[in-house]
Amino acid sequence: MFDLLIKNARLQQGLMDIGIKDGKIKSLRRNIDTEATVEIDAEGNFVIPPFVDPHFHLDATLSYGQPRVNQSGTLLEGIEIWGELKPTQTIEDFRDRALEFCRWSVARGTLGLRSHVDITDDRLLAVEALLDVRETMKPYMDIQLVAFPQDGFLRSPKSKENLLRALDMGVDVVGGIPHFERTMGEGGNSVRQLCEIAADKCLLVDMHCDESDDPLSRHIESLSAETMRLGMQGRVTGSHLTSMHSMDNYYVSKLMPLMVEAQMHVVANPLINITLQGRHDSYPKRRGMTRVKELFEAGINVAFGHDCVMDPWYSLGSHDMLEVAGMGLHVGQMTGVEQIQSCFDAVTKNGAEIMKLEGYGIEPGNDANLVILDCKSAFDAIRLRPARLKVIRRGKVIAETQKSHPTVILNGETHEVDFVPAGMKV
Ligand code: FE2
Repeated sequence: MFDLLIKNARLQQGLMDIGIKDGKIKSLRRNIDTEATVEIDAEGNFVIPPFVDPHFHLDATLSYGQPRVNQSGTLLEGIEIWGELKPTQTIEDFRDRALEFCRWSVARGTLGLRSHVDITDDRLLAVEALLDVRETMKPYMDIQLVAFPQDGFLRSPKSKENLLRALDMGVDVVGGIPHFERTMGEGGNSVRQLCEIAADKCLLVDMHCDESDDPLSRHIESLSAETMRLGMQGRVTGSHLTSMHSMDNYYVSKLMPLMVEAQMHVVANPLINITLQGRHDSYPKRRGMTRVKELFEAGINVAFGHDCVMDPWYSLGSHDMLEVAGMGLHVGQMTGVEQIQSCFDAVTKNGAEIMKLEGYGIEPGNDANLVILDCKSAFDAIRLRPARLKVIRRGKVIAETQKSHPTVILNGETHEVDFVPAGMKV
Protein backbone atom coordinates (compact mmCIF):
# COMPACT_ATOMS: atom_id res chain seq x y z
CA MET A 1 0.00 0.00 0.00
CA PHE A 2 1.46 3.34 -1.07
CA ASP A 3 0.72 6.74 0.47
CA LEU A 4 0.70 8.27 -2.99
CA LEU A 5 0.65 6.74 -6.46
CA ILE A 6 1.32 8.94 -9.49
CA LYS A 7 0.05 7.28 -12.66
CA ASN A 8 1.13 8.10 -16.23
CA ALA A 9 4.12 10.27 -15.36
CA ARG A 10 6.22 11.15 -18.38
CA LEU A 11 9.89 10.88 -17.41
CA GLN A 12 12.97 11.17 -19.60
CA GLN A 13 12.78 7.35 -20.03
CA GLY A 14 9.07 7.31 -20.99
CA LEU A 15 5.73 6.80 -19.22
CA MET A 16 6.01 5.44 -15.67
CA ASP A 17 4.02 5.07 -12.47
CA ILE A 18 5.62 6.31 -9.25
CA GLY A 19 4.79 4.62 -5.94
CA ILE A 20 5.54 6.70 -2.84
CA LYS A 21 5.63 5.65 0.82
CA ASP A 22 6.88 7.56 3.89
CA GLY A 23 8.01 10.47 1.73
CA LYS A 24 10.29 8.32 -0.45
CA ILE A 25 10.02 6.93 -3.96
CA LYS A 26 9.55 3.18 -3.44
CA SER A 27 8.67 1.98 -6.91
CA LEU A 28 9.19 3.30 -10.40
CA ARG A 29 7.87 1.21 -13.27
CA ARG A 30 5.04 0.88 -15.76
CA ASN A 31 1.55 -0.18 -14.64
CA ILE A 32 1.83 -0.31 -10.86
CA ASP A 33 -1.50 -1.68 -9.57
CA THR A 34 -0.76 -1.54 -5.82
CA GLU A 35 -3.38 0.37 -3.83
CA ALA A 36 -2.61 3.86 -2.57
CA THR A 37 -4.20 6.30 -0.13
CA VAL A 38 -4.04 9.03 -2.76
CA GLU A 39 -3.76 8.56 -6.51
CA ILE A 40 -2.87 11.30 -8.99
CA ASP A 41 -3.16 10.82 -12.74
CA ALA A 42 -0.36 12.86 -14.34
CA GLU A 43 -2.12 12.29 -17.71
CA GLY A 44 1.14 11.78 -19.57
CA ASN A 45 2.56 15.11 -18.46
CA PHE A 46 6.26 15.72 -17.84
CA VAL A 47 7.29 14.97 -14.26
CA ILE A 48 10.59 16.34 -13.04
CA PRO A 49 12.56 16.70 -9.82
CA PRO A 50 12.13 20.24 -8.40
CA PHE A 51 13.79 23.27 -9.88
CA VAL A 52 16.90 24.43 -8.02
CA ASP A 53 18.07 28.03 -7.80
CA PRO A 54 21.71 27.96 -6.66
CA HIS A 55 22.20 31.74 -6.53
CA PHE A 56 19.83 34.15 -4.84
CA HIS A 57 19.64 37.04 -2.34
CA LEU A 58 16.77 36.46 0.08
CA ASP A 59 17.76 39.44 2.25
CA ALA A 60 17.05 41.97 -0.53
CA THR A 61 14.19 40.30 -2.37
CA LEU A 62 10.73 41.90 -2.71
CA SER A 63 12.06 45.23 -1.44
CA TYR A 64 11.23 46.94 -4.74
CA GLY A 65 10.57 50.66 -4.18
CA GLN A 66 11.98 50.71 -0.63
CA PRO A 67 13.07 53.39 0.10
CA ARG A 68 12.93 54.35 -3.58
CA VAL A 69 12.83 52.81 -7.04
CA ASN A 70 16.11 52.33 -8.97
CA GLN A 71 15.44 55.00 -11.60
CA SER A 72 18.48 54.27 -13.77
CA GLY A 73 18.28 50.49 -13.41
CA THR A 74 22.06 50.33 -12.94
CA LEU A 75 24.20 48.24 -10.57
CA LEU A 76 25.63 51.39 -8.92
CA GLU A 77 22.24 52.92 -8.11
CA GLY A 78 21.16 49.51 -6.82
CA ILE A 79 24.15 49.43 -4.43
CA GLU A 80 23.25 52.96 -3.21
CA ILE A 81 19.63 51.96 -2.57
CA TRP A 82 20.66 48.80 -0.71
CA GLY A 83 22.97 50.96 1.44
CA GLU A 84 20.01 53.19 2.31
CA LEU A 85 17.59 50.32 2.93
CA LYS A 86 19.81 48.02 5.03
CA PRO A 87 20.00 50.15 8.22
CA THR A 88 16.20 50.61 8.28
CA GLN A 89 15.35 46.91 8.20
CA THR A 90 14.27 44.89 11.22
CA ILE A 91 14.52 41.13 11.62
CA GLU A 92 10.78 40.97 10.91
CA ASP A 93 11.19 42.96 7.66
CA PHE A 94 13.89 40.57 6.40
CA ARG A 95 11.91 37.52 7.49
CA ASP A 96 8.52 38.59 6.11
CA ARG A 97 9.88 39.45 2.67
CA ALA A 98 11.90 36.20 2.48
CA LEU A 99 8.94 34.08 3.59
CA GLU A 100 6.64 35.70 1.05
CA PHE A 101 9.26 35.02 -1.60
CA CYS A 102 9.55 31.35 -0.53
CA ARG A 103 5.82 30.95 -1.18
CA TRP A 104 6.45 32.20 -4.73
CA SER A 105 9.29 29.68 -5.09
CA VAL A 106 7.15 26.76 -3.93
CA ALA A 107 4.37 27.82 -6.33
CA ARG A 108 6.94 27.73 -9.15
CA GLY A 109 8.23 24.30 -8.11
CA THR A 110 11.62 25.57 -6.92
CA LEU A 111 12.40 23.56 -3.80
CA GLY A 112 16.19 24.03 -3.64
CA LEU A 113 17.56 27.51 -2.99
CA ARG A 114 21.05 28.79 -2.16
CA SER A 115 20.86 32.34 -0.87
CA HIS A 116 23.70 34.73 -0.09
CA VAL A 117 23.21 36.80 3.04
CA ASP A 118 25.01 40.11 3.57
CA ILE A 119 27.19 39.91 6.72
CA THR A 120 28.70 43.41 6.55
CA ASP A 121 26.12 44.97 8.90
CA ASP A 122 27.50 44.31 12.40
CA ARG A 123 24.06 43.51 13.82
CA LEU A 124 23.70 40.46 11.51
CA LEU A 125 19.93 40.91 11.53
CA ALA A 126 19.55 39.45 8.05
CA VAL A 127 21.53 36.38 9.14
CA GLU A 128 19.28 35.87 12.13
CA ALA A 129 16.14 36.34 10.02
CA LEU A 130 17.22 34.00 7.22
CA LEU A 131 18.35 31.25 9.60
CA ASP A 132 14.80 31.40 10.96
CA VAL A 133 13.37 31.27 7.41
CA ARG A 134 15.60 28.29 6.57
CA GLU A 135 14.19 26.46 9.61
CA THR A 136 10.56 27.46 8.98
CA MET A 137 10.74 26.34 5.35
CA LYS A 138 12.68 23.10 6.03
CA PRO A 139 9.65 20.82 5.55
CA TYR A 140 8.98 22.44 2.16
CA MET A 141 12.26 23.43 0.60
CA ASP A 142 16.03 23.09 1.06
CA ILE A 143 17.61 26.46 1.74
CA GLN A 144 21.37 26.94 2.03
CA LEU A 145 22.86 30.24 3.21
CA VAL A 146 26.15 31.76 2.08
CA ALA A 147 27.99 34.27 4.31
CA PHE A 148 28.44 37.09 1.82
CA PRO A 149 30.70 40.08 2.61
CA GLN A 150 28.79 42.32 0.20
CA ASP A 151 30.87 45.47 0.95
CA GLY A 152 34.15 43.56 0.59
CA PHE A 153 35.93 41.11 2.91
CA LEU A 154 39.08 43.22 3.37
CA ARG A 155 37.49 46.55 2.48
CA SER A 156 34.96 46.47 5.27
CA PRO A 157 36.84 46.43 8.63
CA LYS A 158 34.64 44.01 10.56
CA SER A 159 33.84 41.61 7.71
CA LYS A 160 36.09 38.81 8.94
CA GLU A 161 34.74 38.95 12.48
CA ASN A 162 31.14 39.11 11.18
CA LEU A 163 31.66 36.30 8.69
CA LEU A 164 33.06 34.01 11.39
CA ARG A 165 30.13 34.93 13.69
CA ALA A 166 27.64 34.16 10.89
CA LEU A 167 29.25 30.75 10.31
CA ASP A 168 29.10 30.04 14.05
CA MET A 169 25.41 30.96 14.01
CA GLY A 170 24.83 28.23 11.40
CA VAL A 171 25.34 29.79 7.96
CA ASP A 172 26.32 26.94 5.62
CA VAL A 173 28.73 28.26 2.97
CA VAL A 174 31.66 30.73 2.76
CA GLY A 175 31.14 33.58 0.26
CA GLY A 176 33.32 36.37 -1.13
CA ILE A 177 33.50 39.20 -3.65
CA PRO A 178 37.17 39.53 -4.69
CA HIS A 179 36.59 41.92 -7.63
CA PHE A 180 35.05 44.43 -5.19
CA GLU A 181 38.12 44.61 -2.93
CA ARG A 182 40.30 47.74 -3.27
CA THR A 183 42.98 46.20 -5.50
CA MET A 184 43.55 43.04 -7.55
CA GLY A 185 46.11 42.05 -4.89
CA GLU A 186 43.60 42.41 -2.07
CA GLY A 187 41.07 40.48 -4.16
CA GLY A 188 43.53 37.58 -4.39
CA ASN A 189 44.28 37.89 -0.68
CA SER A 190 40.56 37.69 0.14
CA VAL A 191 40.20 34.54 -1.95
CA ARG A 192 43.09 32.91 -0.08
CA GLN A 193 41.82 33.85 3.38
CA LEU A 194 38.23 32.85 2.67
CA CYS A 195 39.20 29.49 1.17
CA GLU A 196 41.37 28.81 4.22
CA ILE A 197 38.43 29.54 6.53
CA ALA A 198 36.24 27.13 4.52
CA ALA A 199 38.91 24.40 4.44
CA ASP A 200 39.43 24.76 8.17
CA LYS A 201 35.70 24.38 8.88
CA CYS A 202 35.03 21.78 6.11
CA LEU A 203 32.52 24.09 4.41
CA LEU A 204 31.63 24.71 0.78
CA VAL A 205 32.68 27.94 -0.95
CA ASP A 206 30.61 30.09 -3.31
CA MET A 207 32.04 33.45 -4.34
CA HIS A 208 30.64 36.27 -6.43
CA CYS A 209 33.65 36.26 -8.71
CA ASP A 210 34.69 38.65 -11.49
CA GLU A 211 31.22 40.19 -11.84
CA SER A 212 32.45 42.89 -14.20
CA ASP A 213 33.26 43.49 -17.86
CA ASP A 214 36.96 43.91 -17.07
CA PRO A 215 38.83 41.21 -19.04
CA LEU A 216 41.68 41.46 -16.54
CA SER A 217 39.50 40.52 -13.59
CA ARG A 218 40.93 37.02 -13.16
CA HIS A 219 40.05 36.01 -9.61
CA ILE A 220 38.56 32.76 -10.90
CA GLU A 221 42.18 31.72 -11.57
CA SER A 222 43.14 32.29 -7.90
CA LEU A 223 39.93 30.62 -6.74
CA SER A 224 40.76 27.51 -8.81
CA ALA A 225 44.39 27.47 -7.62
CA GLU A 226 43.39 27.89 -3.94
CA THR A 227 40.80 25.12 -4.36
CA MET A 228 43.55 22.74 -5.42
CA ARG A 229 46.11 23.94 -2.87
CA LEU A 230 43.63 23.21 -0.08
CA GLY A 231 42.30 19.94 -1.57
CA MET A 232 38.76 21.32 -1.96
CA GLN A 233 38.13 20.04 -5.48
CA GLY A 234 34.40 19.78 -6.31
CA ARG A 235 33.38 21.90 -3.30
CA VAL A 236 33.88 25.40 -4.71
CA THR A 237 31.59 27.50 -6.93
CA GLY A 238 32.44 30.58 -8.95
CA SER A 239 29.30 32.70 -9.37
CA HIS A 240 28.77 35.13 -12.24
CA LEU A 241 32.29 34.99 -13.84
CA THR A 242 31.06 37.66 -16.27
CA SER A 243 34.58 38.95 -16.99
CA MET A 244 35.20 35.66 -18.83
CA HIS A 245 32.89 36.98 -21.53
CA SER A 246 35.44 39.72 -22.27
CA MET A 247 38.68 37.82 -21.65
CA ASP A 248 41.32 37.15 -24.26
CA ASN A 249 40.67 33.79 -25.94
CA TYR A 250 44.23 32.54 -25.44
CA TYR A 251 44.01 33.24 -21.72
CA VAL A 252 40.69 31.38 -21.49
CA SER A 253 42.24 28.37 -23.24
CA LYS A 254 44.67 28.17 -20.31
CA LEU A 255 42.09 29.02 -17.63
CA MET A 256 39.47 26.39 -18.50
CA PRO A 257 41.74 23.34 -17.95
CA LEU A 258 42.67 24.82 -14.56
CA MET A 259 38.97 25.08 -13.68
CA VAL A 260 38.45 21.47 -14.82
CA GLU A 261 41.37 20.35 -12.63
CA ALA A 262 39.84 22.17 -9.64
CA GLN A 263 36.42 20.61 -10.44
CA MET A 264 35.05 24.13 -10.19
CA HIS A 265 31.29 24.61 -10.32
CA VAL A 266 29.95 27.67 -12.12
CA VAL A 267 26.72 29.62 -11.67
CA ALA A 268 25.68 32.06 -14.40
CA ASN A 269 22.78 34.42 -13.71
CA PRO A 270 21.44 35.13 -17.21
CA LEU A 271 18.66 37.61 -16.34
CA ILE A 272 20.93 39.75 -14.19
CA ASN A 273 24.07 39.43 -16.32
CA ILE A 274 22.29 40.53 -19.50
CA THR A 275 20.76 43.56 -17.77
CA LEU A 276 23.70 44.72 -15.61
CA GLN A 277 26.75 44.00 -17.75
CA GLY A 278 27.88 45.96 -20.79
CA ARG A 279 26.52 49.19 -19.30
CA HIS A 280 29.73 51.08 -20.06
CA ASP A 281 29.65 49.99 -23.70
CA SER A 282 28.13 52.04 -26.48
CA TYR A 283 27.71 49.69 -29.48
CA PRO A 284 28.49 46.88 -29.95
CA LYS A 285 27.28 46.16 -26.42
CA ARG A 286 28.61 43.06 -24.65
CA ARG A 287 26.20 40.46 -23.27
CA GLY A 288 28.30 39.85 -20.17
CA MET A 289 27.15 36.29 -19.47
CA THR A 290 30.04 33.89 -18.87
CA ARG A 291 31.02 31.34 -21.56
CA VAL A 292 28.33 28.82 -20.64
CA LYS A 293 28.43 26.77 -23.85
CA GLU A 294 32.21 26.37 -23.72
CA LEU A 295 32.19 25.58 -19.99
CA PHE A 296 29.64 22.82 -20.63
CA GLU A 297 31.76 21.49 -23.49
CA ALA A 298 34.79 21.41 -21.18
CA GLY A 299 32.79 19.17 -18.79
CA ILE A 300 32.36 21.81 -16.07
CA ASN A 301 29.16 21.73 -14.03
CA VAL A 302 27.24 24.92 -14.88
CA ALA A 303 23.96 25.94 -13.27
CA PHE A 304 21.77 29.01 -13.72
CA GLY A 305 20.57 31.21 -10.86
CA HIS A 306 17.86 33.87 -10.66
CA ASP A 307 20.00 36.08 -8.37
CA CYS A 308 17.37 38.79 -7.79
CA VAL A 309 13.58 39.26 -7.83
CA MET A 310 12.09 42.72 -7.28
CA ASP A 311 15.04 44.17 -5.37
CA PRO A 312 17.30 47.24 -5.76
CA TRP A 313 19.18 45.64 -8.67
CA TYR A 314 16.37 43.97 -10.61
CA SER A 315 12.78 45.14 -10.51
CA LEU A 316 11.30 42.21 -12.46
CA GLY A 317 10.76 38.48 -12.01
CA SER A 318 8.47 36.04 -10.19
CA HIS A 319 11.08 33.33 -9.49
CA ASP A 320 10.30 31.24 -12.54
CA MET A 321 13.45 29.19 -13.18
CA LEU A 322 12.15 28.39 -16.67
CA GLU A 323 12.40 32.10 -17.47
CA VAL A 324 16.03 31.90 -16.33
CA ALA A 325 16.68 28.82 -18.49
CA GLY A 326 15.08 30.53 -21.50
CA MET A 327 17.18 33.65 -21.07
CA GLY A 328 20.38 31.58 -20.61
CA LEU A 329 19.58 29.63 -23.77
CA HIS A 330 19.06 32.80 -25.81
CA VAL A 331 21.99 34.80 -24.48
CA GLY A 332 24.33 31.81 -24.84
CA GLN A 333 22.96 30.94 -28.30
CA MET A 334 22.33 27.38 -27.11
CA THR A 335 19.61 26.33 -29.53
CA GLY A 336 21.13 22.92 -30.37
CA VAL A 337 19.16 19.88 -29.20
CA GLU A 338 21.66 18.85 -26.50
CA GLN A 339 22.23 22.47 -25.53
CA ILE A 340 18.51 22.99 -24.85
CA GLN A 341 18.61 19.94 -22.56
CA SER A 342 21.72 21.41 -20.87
CA CYS A 343 19.82 24.62 -20.16
CA PHE A 344 17.06 22.57 -18.51
CA ASP A 345 19.67 20.68 -16.46
CA ALA A 346 21.13 24.07 -15.45
CA VAL A 347 17.94 24.90 -13.49
CA THR A 348 17.46 21.40 -12.05
CA LYS A 349 20.10 18.75 -11.38
CA ASN A 350 23.23 20.89 -11.90
CA GLY A 351 22.19 23.25 -9.12
CA ALA A 352 21.39 20.25 -6.92
CA GLU A 353 24.95 19.03 -7.47
CA ILE A 354 26.33 22.43 -6.43
CA MET A 355 24.23 22.42 -3.27
CA LYS A 356 25.06 18.73 -2.66
CA LEU A 357 21.36 18.00 -2.19
CA GLU A 358 20.99 14.41 -1.03
CA GLY A 359 18.25 12.21 -2.46
CA TYR A 360 17.60 14.50 -5.45
CA GLY A 361 16.20 12.98 -8.64
CA ILE A 362 13.40 10.60 -9.58
CA GLU A 363 14.90 7.28 -8.52
CA PRO A 364 13.72 4.60 -6.07
CA GLY A 365 15.07 5.39 -2.60
CA ASN A 366 15.17 9.16 -3.17
CA ASP A 367 12.92 11.73 -1.54
CA ALA A 368 9.56 12.02 -3.33
CA ASN A 369 10.11 15.62 -4.42
CA LEU A 370 8.47 16.13 -7.80
CA VAL A 371 6.84 18.67 -10.06
CA ILE A 372 4.18 17.81 -12.65
CA LEU A 373 4.44 20.29 -15.52
CA ASP A 374 1.67 21.03 -18.03
CA CYS A 375 3.85 19.91 -20.96
CA LYS A 376 5.49 16.78 -22.35
CA SER A 377 9.25 17.53 -22.51
CA ALA A 378 12.15 19.66 -21.31
CA PHE A 379 12.09 21.36 -24.71
CA ASP A 380 8.45 22.43 -24.24
CA ALA A 381 9.08 23.34 -20.61
CA ILE A 382 11.59 25.98 -21.72
CA ARG A 383 9.55 27.01 -24.76
CA LEU A 384 6.18 27.36 -23.01
CA ARG A 385 6.98 27.95 -19.31
CA PRO A 386 3.96 25.78 -18.45
CA ALA A 387 1.94 25.69 -15.23
CA ARG A 388 3.32 23.63 -12.36
CA LEU A 389 0.19 21.48 -12.04
CA LYS A 390 1.37 19.85 -8.80
CA VAL A 391 4.41 20.47 -6.63
CA ILE A 392 5.11 17.51 -4.35
CA ARG A 393 7.44 17.50 -1.36
CA ARG A 394 8.20 14.22 0.40
CA GLY A 395 5.04 12.67 -1.02
CA LYS A 396 2.65 15.53 -0.21
CA VAL A 397 1.16 18.08 -2.60
CA ILE A 398 2.29 21.53 -1.43
CA ALA A 399 1.30 23.66 -4.44
CA GLU A 400 -1.16 23.41 -7.31
CA THR A 401 -1.85 25.46 -10.43
CA GLN A 402 -4.86 24.84 -12.65
CA LYS A 403 -4.22 24.00 -16.26
CA SER A 404 -5.38 26.90 -18.37
CA HIS A 405 -5.32 26.75 -22.15
CA PRO A 406 -6.88 29.57 -24.15
CA THR A 407 -9.88 28.95 -26.37
CA VAL A 408 -10.19 30.66 -29.72
CA ILE A 409 -13.51 31.16 -31.47
CA LEU A 410 -13.27 31.37 -35.24
CA ASN A 411 -16.26 31.19 -37.60
CA GLY A 412 -18.42 30.00 -34.72
CA GLU A 413 -16.08 27.08 -33.92
CA THR A 414 -14.26 26.87 -30.59
CA HIS A 415 -10.67 25.61 -30.58
CA GLU A 416 -8.49 24.93 -27.55
CA VAL A 417 -4.93 26.12 -28.15
CA ASP A 418 -2.07 24.32 -26.40
CA PHE A 419 0.74 25.72 -28.57
CA VAL A 420 1.91 22.21 -29.60
CA PRO A 421 1.77 21.46 -33.35
CA ALA A 422 -0.43 18.51 -34.42
CA GLY A 423 2.58 16.48 -35.52
CA MET A 424 4.27 16.79 -32.12
CA LYS A 425 1.36 15.89 -29.84
CA VAL A 426 1.94 12.79 -27.71
FE1 FE2 B 1 24.43 37.61 -6.51
